[in-house]
Amino acid sequence: MQTENETHYRNFVVELNNRIVGFFNFKQRCHAYIGMIGIDSNYRKRGLARLVLEFSINYLRERNSRTAYLEVRTDNNASISLVESFGFRNIGTRENLMADGCSTYVYSINLK
Ligand SMILES: CC(C)(COP(=O)(O)OP(=O)(O)OC[C@H]1O[C@@H](n2cnc3c(N)ncnc32)[C@H](O)[C@@H]1OP(=O)(O)O)[C@@H](O)C(=O)NCCC(=O)NCCS
Repeated sequence: MQTENETHYRNFVVELNNRIVGFFNFKQRCHAYIGMIGIDSNYRKRGLARLVLEFSINYLRERNSRTAYLEVRTDNNASISLVESFGFRNIGTRENLMADGCSTYVYSINLK
């Protein structure tokens, strides 16, 4: 199967009991980019982000993406812990990337 090299994000919502409690998106590419994962603050710490990341990785792997990348603010300990628990590797820092001056860590995972 050919991997699509999408230029736009594929957007998803997380629905629980007819309520939207989260969203996430990614670009399905040979080197895929996971853009954002957000879970409603009332529904955190229940494993939803873990499910979302598992779904995203499986989705991309099944469509022949070779790697997935994402970025996390260096002050976002919850996300750092989440992505590292999946085996994402920190491959660099982008200094002062965010509007407030915060830097981001770039992470990647091999999907092959
Ligand atoms: C980061 C975020 C997506 C986690 O969502 P969640 O559904 O609460 O996460 P889960 O319950 O699936 O937790 C999975 C793992 O994430 C990490 N984690 C989640 N919340 C954490 C916290 N408050 N402190 C430290 N680690 C945390 C842990 O490793 C956790 O595994 P564990 O439960 O075995 O310890 C959520 O806090 C969020 O939406 N934050 C605001 C938006 C954001 O920062 N998005 C990420 C940037 S793309």
